[in-house]
Amino acid sequence: MSARPDLPEVVERAFDVSRQAGYVSFCRNETGRLLATLAATREGYLAEFGTGCGVGTAWLRSGIRPGTHILTAERDPGLAEGAQELFADDPRVEVLAADWSTLRDKGPYSLLFLDGESPGVEVDTIADLVEPGGIVVLDNFTPCSQWPPLTLGRVDTLREHWLTDERFVGVEIMVAPDSSVIVATRR
Ligand SMILES: C[S@@+](CC[C@H](N)C(=O)[O-])C[C@H]1O[C@@H](n2cnc3c(N)ncnc32)[C@H](O)[C@@H]1O
Repeated sequence: MSARPDLPEVVERAFDVSRQAGYVSFCRNETGRLLATLAATREGYLAEFGTGCGVGTAWLRSGIRPGTHILTAERDPGLAEGAQELFADDPRVEVLAADWSTLRDKGPYSLLFLDGESPGVEVDTIADLVEPGGIVVLDNFTPCSQWPPLTLGRVDTLREHWLTDERFVGVEIMVAPDSSVIVATRR
């Protein structure tokens, strides 16, 4: 049996930054590998709303093709600073210490990685930030086999909207028994 693939070096460095900051709110490796895989299909500009310490950014960075770039915004200045240092020598990644709304003017993007828990990531707000054929990834759902999907005993309208909006073709993917992501492609 072959060994599990190593973590990309840039992801290891992002974990070091997280450890130093005592920060644990990063995407899990299963999601990261999906991000890297999707990033490898993209051209132009990719974006992330909510950088944290840069773990998700690092996974995207590990997958992108030559000539592509990543913009990522983090509103917590301390976290943004750590991620800026991580990518200081990397001309293909720009970390902004800012609300994600500052990235609205720089799109459309070929891939958008969103933290599903952030306010304002509803389909109507995001749809025009993604180019045709562009991919939106929303992280951090608890898998639910029911329809409409429930979270904490209520209908999860965010998930429901992303999976039914006519502008997107979407799917919920279980990346682990207790974690799913939504991947939605702009028609
Ligand atoms: C789950 S963490 C991000 C994890 C990161 N994407 C990763 O995969 O490692 C969510 C981050 O979003 C940031 N955030 C929340 N609302 C934001 C906003 N409106 N603009 C920018 N960042 C935001 C929080 O400060 C937090 O660091």
